[in-house]
Amino acid sequence: MKKMTLGKTSQLLPAIGLGTWEMGGGISPDPSTDKESIKSIIKAVEFGMTHIDTAEYYGAGHTEELVGKALKEIGREKVFLTSKVWPNHLKIKDMLNSIENTLERLGTDRLDLYLVHWPPEDISIKEAIQNINIVLDRGYTRYIGVSNFSISQLKEAVSASKAPIVCNQVRYNIEDREIERSGLLDFCNSKGISVVAYSPLNRMGMSATALKLEEVAKNRNATSAQIALAWLIKKGAFTIPKAIKEKHLLENAKAGDIELTDDEMELLS
Ligand SMILES: NC(=O)c1ccc[n+]([C@@H]2O[C@H](COP(=O)([O-])OP(=O)(O)OC[C@H]3O[C@@H](n4cnc5c(N)ncnc54)[C@H](OP(=O)(O)O)[C@@H]3O)[C@@H](O)[C@H]2O)c1
Repeated sequence: MKKMTLGKTSQLLPAIGLGTWEMGGGISPDPSTDKESIKSIIKAVEFGMTHIDTAEYYGAGHTEELVGKALKEIGREKVFLTSKVWPNHLKIKDMLNSIENTLERLGTDRLDLYLVHWPPEDISIKEAIQNINIVLDRGYTRYIGVSNFSISQLKEAVSASKAPIVCNQVRYNIEDREIERSGLLDFCNSKGISVVAYSPLNRMGMSATALKLEEVAKNRNATSAQIALAWLIKKGAFTIPKAIKEKHLLENAKAGDIELTDDEMELLS
């Protein structure tokens, strides 16, 4: 599994981690696949995908509980743990309440990375970022970052933050290259802010690039999903595909060993 450095820190992370949206529910809890979800998280770590991405929003907290149950089996120290605070909890009292609840559900006393899930709606970016710095100062997380921030929002966040903003988690996949068009990818690279690509498989809704992915995959005895993940790594992005099926988990972990050539990248572009 390829490892890359997170932001300007010295923290190495696997290029491919695990997303957890829809494990344990969507916007409300759904316990019907709890056992399967916990097993998937344990397997993911076993396969080398030790960066786990979750959020207080997922399953209205239930997803974090499942991650917490998996961590009991895995051992907290084996995992780089990311969670996110929802935009209606960005005032300091709410954010402290959110992080404490998140930590309790996860069964740990500290996150590795805490993100502002979406830009704030009812307070300023400056205030939200100052507040997440307080969370950091209190030792509830090792690093802070943001998600779904545009270039101008990211500039505001960086200038309001005492501590480095180590990443911007954004939608990015071979079929949705908006962050290339908008200049956000280049901006992040120039500032040493890691891009963490979510929905890296476009939720498996690949159509425009399906034939080219298949062509590259066939030559490498790989799958289209693996090539889509390898494409993101070659672009310098971390990625966090969600998978519950063991076959998918294994494939995704192995994609972390595929280094696409310039010719393959050209074909896929
Ligand atoms: N910050 C944000 O606002 C935000 C927004 C969206 C997502 N996220 C994060 O990003 C993560 C990933 O994004 P996502 O869940 O939207 O979509 P995704 O990872 O692009 O796609 C997940 C889907 O792909 C399938 N899959 C996984 N590996 C596969 C493989 N090797 N071959 C074929 N199918 C495969 C999964 O199936 P099975 O589950 O059946 O295996 C699942 O249906 C989320 O889980 C979440 O942690 C963050």
